[in-house]
Amino acid sequence: MKDLRVSIAALALSCSSPPSVAVPDRDPLELSTLEDLNADPNILEVNLEAREADKQFGTTPVTRVWTYNGTVPGPLLDVKVGDRLIVHFTNRLPEPTTVHWHGVRLPAAMDGSLAMQAPVPPGGTFRYEFVLKDAGLFWFHPHMRTDVQIEKGLAGVIRVRGSEEPQVDEERVIVLDDVRLKEDGTFPTFLDDTSKMMGREGNTILVNGIANATIAVTPGAATRWRIVNVANGRFFNLRLPNANWWVIGTDGGFLPKPYQTDRLLVAPAERYDVMFVAPSARNTEVQLTSEPYERGHHSGERDPIVVAQVRPRDVDAIQPKALPTAFRELVKLPDGPVDMPITLDEGTNDKGELVFTINGKVFPDVAPFMIANNSTRVFEVKNASDMDHPFHLHGFFFQLLETNGVPAPADRLANKDTMIIPGKTTVKFVSHFDEPGMWMYHCHINEHSEGGMMGEIHIQ
Ligand code: C2O
Ligand code: CU
Repeated sequence: MKDLRVSIAALALSCSSPPSVAVPDRDPLELSTLEDLNADPNILEVNLEAREADKQFGTTPVTRVWTYNGTVPGPLLDVKVGDRLIVHFTNRLPEPTTVHWHGVRLPAAMDGSLAMQAPVPPGGTFRYEFVLKDAGLFWFHPHMRTDVQIEKGLAGVIRVRGSEEPQVDEERVIVLDDVRLKEDGTFPTFLDDTSKMMGREGNTILVNGIANATIAVTPGAATRWRIVNVANGRFFNLRLPNANWWVIGTDGGFLPKPYQTDRLLVAPAERYDVMFVAPSARNTEVQLTSEPYERGHHSGERDPIVVAQVRPRDVDAIQPKALPTAFRELVKLPDGPVDMPITLDEGTNDKGELVFTINGKVFPDVAPFMIANNSTRVFEVKNASDMDHPFHLHGFFFQLLETNGVPAPADRLANKDTMIIPGKTTVKFVSHFDEPGMWMYHCHINEHSEGGMMGEIHIQ
């Protein structure tokens, strides 16, 4: 008996081909994935469950977080353009929620906003189903009490691959976030005054849910990072010493032409797709920092913070693949007279509370825009306040036309769904509406949208 077991073990060993290089330990920054319940290679069908779980951030004691399927951030849904996504959603939280698919062009009934669906009560279910039309990085999160539900951990990622993707040596999804924790690991009170004004910023910076993260890279490799900021209020103004990033894409997929930058400002809900050549000195860490950025109320008067350590693995540097110089064509939408004037502002209501307004009103009192289906519309968004607001439109991309009367640079054409509108700045952008229903637009600082800075567009 004993001999038999030994020989089986020996057989198993000799049959499995030994790896030619050492297999690295599981990457702690790898995002979780979900089992595909559907055999059709063009359908991803998953069970998604919002539920509480325990998570330890860094060195603080365990925190009771809100999760999709037990992890913060939630799972990565990996699909291709044209695939169908079917999500059997169950709410196991103690309060109602919905799932919004940020940036995805889909039927309004699947959008997860309260204009289009009833909240899913505790114990309730909802079936989301739609086809992914665009390549890019998208994300999903609740669309109610977002200031609390997203902060507690509810955010997941969708990566949609197109038919032509750049050849790289290494690719990573980077989910930027922060969380505010007390020493005992619990969340301090939600709407304190600074959070109400600036959006809640955390005391613990997270990369893919990990505090004090180390991002491994292959020395010298052509590296692609697909970055999303899921924080409530923090803007990340990223810098990696000696690395010039080539920005190859943003919210709505690839740019026509990459551009180079040494700072990457990523507001809440924005995505950036960047390529760079990884530092080549093996085992020598460099710091990925977030540099001060003034977004109003002296928020820029502070020191840089460390977001993560970037560590070239202890292997020989490789000769990187050539970075691509051009991507897809992007159809430029036409300019035209302004038909959707929007003024963003802050103020106080008659109870003396801080509110955020659109055209002088607090949501849901903001009058919806009524638009015919299949029409192209020009927005003029005037930010009358002293602080930046990341403006987000559901269900459609938009293209920047001008900022304070200055035309947008022609070589920066991009499809966006979230864009920073700096304080005291007016931008014009254009969008094509081709899906009927009620669609939301709002500031993506969650405390601001919950505080009233949200409106609707009704497409008939
Ligand atoms: Cu990511 Cu209406 O939001
Ligand atoms: Cu705002």
